[in-house]
Amino acid sequence: MKFFIDTADLEQIQEAQDMGILDGVTTNPSLMAKVGVKGQDAINEHYKKICDIVKGGDVSAEVFATDFEGMVKEGTALAALNKQIVVKLPCTKAGIKAVKYFHDKGIKTNCTLVFSVGQALLAAKAGATYVSPFVGRLDDISSDGVALVAHIVEVYREYGYTTQVLAASIRHTQHIIECLDAGADVATCPLKAIEGLLNHPLTDKGLETFIADSKKMI
Ligand code: E4P
Repeated sequence: MKFFIDTADLEQIQEAQDMGILDGVTTNPSLMAKVGVKGQDAINEHYKKICDIVKGGDVSAEVFATDFEGMVKEGTALAALNKQIVVKLPCTKAGIKAVKYFHDKGIKTNCTLVFSVGQALLAAKAGATYVSPFVGRLDDISSDGVALVAHIVEVYREYGYTTQVLAASIRHTQHIIECLDAGADVATCPLKAIEGLLNHPLTDKGLETFIADSKKMI
């Protein structure tokens, strides 16, 4: 399973990159607004900086437009920034049409805001590179986000769709493990959730003993 980091924060992206485990980045308008970028030029510069940090990894940049023409215009400009840019499009009628448009142009897409297997089916048929089921937001409404990931994986494998299942809206470390078990191709996660994978009391206890014993020898 590939690891993407779900943030526009350059320091956090650099930190994950330095760990050597990062395969890409996902952003959305809320994450971009959070880091305080304002104006198209600043937004474009920010995406370029992200691409430089993840060296070769895919970077999802979401369009703000909601109509097909607007999505095509914005997505084309975003894709021109860097080969690593993946145009992120909402799973609406216009978004699906735009996924097909970019697929035909050989531009990668991430079909986002996916909450059902039917939406994932349309994204795959339109030729999306990635489909993003939102795990945490489904859990928030007492639905089962991981079950949706597993269902999409099963359907894609059964019918041979090549769209990669990108588990999004990951809120904590256990979500990562559950998405791994469900067969997700990618999980996009906050840095804290990734770092949580390191936590084990026996590692801490074992290291304490090794440190104490190593001191006896020097
Ligand atoms: C990433 O592609 C999604 O936009 C993101 O994971 C959504 O996460 P949230 O539900 O925590 O806002």
